[in-house]
Amino acid sequence: MILLGIETSCDETSAAIVEGKDDQVILRSNIVASSLALHAKTGGVIPEIAAREQLKYMLPVLQEAVLPLVSKSESTKDPIGVSRRQPADRNDINKQTIINTLKHIDAIAVTYGPGLIGSLLVGVETARTLAYVLNKPLVPVNHMLGHIYANWLVARGTSAVESSNKLCATSYEQHAAIQFPAIALVVSGGHTDLLLLKNHGKYTLLGGTRDDAAGEAFDKIGRLLGLPYPAGAVIEKLAKEGDPKRFHFPRPLIGSGDFTFSFSGLKTAVLREVTRAGIKGNTSKETGLKDSHLIKDFARATQDAVIDVLTKKTMQAVEKYNAKSLLLSGGVAANQTLKDRFNVLSSQYGVPFFAPPRNLCTDNAAMIASAAYFNYHPVAWQEVVADPELYFD
Ligand code: KG4
Ligand code: ZN
Repeated sequence: MILLGIETSCDETSAAIVEGKDDQVILRSNIVASSLALHAKTGGVIPEIAAREQLKYMLPVLQEAVLPLVSKSESTKDPIGVSRRQPADRNDINKQTIINTLKHIDAIAVTYGPGLIGSLLVGVETARTLAYVLNKPLVPVNHMLGHIYANWLVARGTSAVESSNKLCATSYEQHAAIQFPAIALVVSGGHTDLLLLKNHGKYTLLGGTRDDAAGEAFDKIGRLLGLPYPAGAVIEKLAKEGDPKRFHFPRPLIGSGDFTFSFSGLKTAVLREVTRAGIKGNTSKETGLKDSHLIKDFARATQDAVIDVLTKKTMQAVEKYNAKSLLLSGGVAANQTLKDRFNVLSSQYGVPFFAPPRNLCTDNAAMIASAAYFNYHPVAWQEVVADPELYFD
């Protein structure tokens, strides 16, 4: 089954083609355009700017995602008699060729929430229009569930690997070993959720964050330290050279015995120390403090606190529910230090651990198509409506 995925929940505009076969989903393309550079200047995503950019990117991104499917004969066929070059020459691809190729897909998957309303609408309306015009089944996908399904993506065949977008994915061998029940930790800029997956489509939310998500905590603390937005990856880099003993920040709710998270207290604790250290707002950027030991030590202590809480609660869930697999996902799963800790813990507990490669941790459409393949519930296009507040039901 060939699926077209569309994802526009926050600041990324993404389209992907995947091929679902039995219990694997093969990446054929995964194109992501981001307006992050624009938001970095303001220290956060400005919803209206994100949506306006997505309107500009949506069709070019869609066109590029479809290219690996364009057959040689189709790309050289020209309805108006002008000879065509090969698909790689994307500027020369005929619109009719793209439409003809889209006719060969089996279904369309789109993120319908949670996210920013203006952003979601761009993807949802594009998907609804395509479903209507092409008469294809349309599968609405929860963005957070999509993150989890990045773990099922595999890159096989040259079309995925050779794509301009430098695709990579878990190896087939690794993918084949995912077994239920699984514990899934989704850590992104907007959510920190722990789920028990009994099977595809059968999941229970064990707990989530009461306030800030883990990624949000990194971003807000990054702002206190004068680091660029989003700060997660920068904090990870700085933390590598930070002194683990200089600061010790609280591990919120670490002993609560349940699966609820809270990270706003961590931010407050960092703020207190930052004020004591005399760092004001963006001064570190301006004065070159970014490379100072002080900032590296703050980064280290912040990352240690977040990782301690995430890993402790997740392993408690693994133990409680006798999980056969542990799945990490979401933008924060790009953090190698977090993955390394989970790797060590999961081998201690004897539970296979999975995390998508870095480029599939952050928002992308392939994960949305993967979720749709395993949870295939098409809905009439008229009934697919963007829901910014969508949560796990
Ligand atoms: O999943 P995602 O791309 O977007 C949302 O759905 O929110 O996650 C973005 C979040 C940001 O908060 C960013 O700071 C964080 O993921 N992030 C990281 C790393 N890379 C991205 N956090 C920690 N370490 C990283 N290497
Ligand atoms: Zn996300």
